[in-house]
Amino acid sequence: MGGYDRAMNTRQPLKVAILGSGKGSNAQAIMDAIQAGHLNARVVCVLSDVADAGILERARRNGIPAEFVDAAPFKTKLDGEGEQRYLRALRRHGAEVIALAGFMRLIKSGLLQAFANRILNIHPALLPAFPGVASWKQAVDYGVKVAGCTVHFVDAGTDSGPIILQKTVTVFDTDTPATLHARIQEQEHLAFPEALQLLAENRVRVAGRVVRIAPQE
Ligand code: GRF
Repeated sequence: MGGYDRAMNTRQPLKVAILGSGKGSNAQAIMDAIQAGHLNARVVCVLSDVADAGILERARRNGIPAEFVDAAPFKTKLDGEGEQRYLRALRRHGAEVIALAGFMRLIKSGLLQAFANRILNIHPALLPAFPGVASWKQAVDYGVKVAGCTVHFVDAGTDSGPIILQKTVTVFDTDTPATLHARIQEQEHLAFPEALQLLAENRVRVAGRVVRIAPQE
């Protein structure tokens, strides 16, 4: 059984780096959960590939180091020199795990190897349904009756890594993509801190593509 092992270290706050490209509501939820004492973690840095992303502003307001890190030369993936810049920043800030909170790039082998089973992503659908973009719209268009969000480990595929936890929402006949997205985000804001707390408590075991949660000590 594999997975990230911090057995000697569970009293120490989990050192989380958050990467995002957008408004940062999930980053905010993680910072709030720490503040409220629900999550034994410290956000060591927030990094964004978008210079004016809201996520950076939110981090600064919370007194957390926030940096625009150029991901060039690629547009949709983190690779080559851009990947090296992120690796250097993550090491400089002493990141233990990486939380992808709306980071709109594919993660490639350099980062995956450096942080094996230590990169988490939040996706606004019940994977493996509706990977990719605008999953809430995919859900409404498809006519599913239950939607939700997934926190999973990142692997080389798109939204395909081992699933840590999922939360569901009912889809109503009156839902538009926007109303469904808003309710899914409410669940995301619970799910991401919960998943990180499981890592902080060293309860996450990965066997192949199946994650098992060890009982609380
Ligand atoms: C979330 O809906 C998340 O599921 C997706 O990107 C969005 C990020 O939102 N991966 P925010 O920037 O955290 O508000």
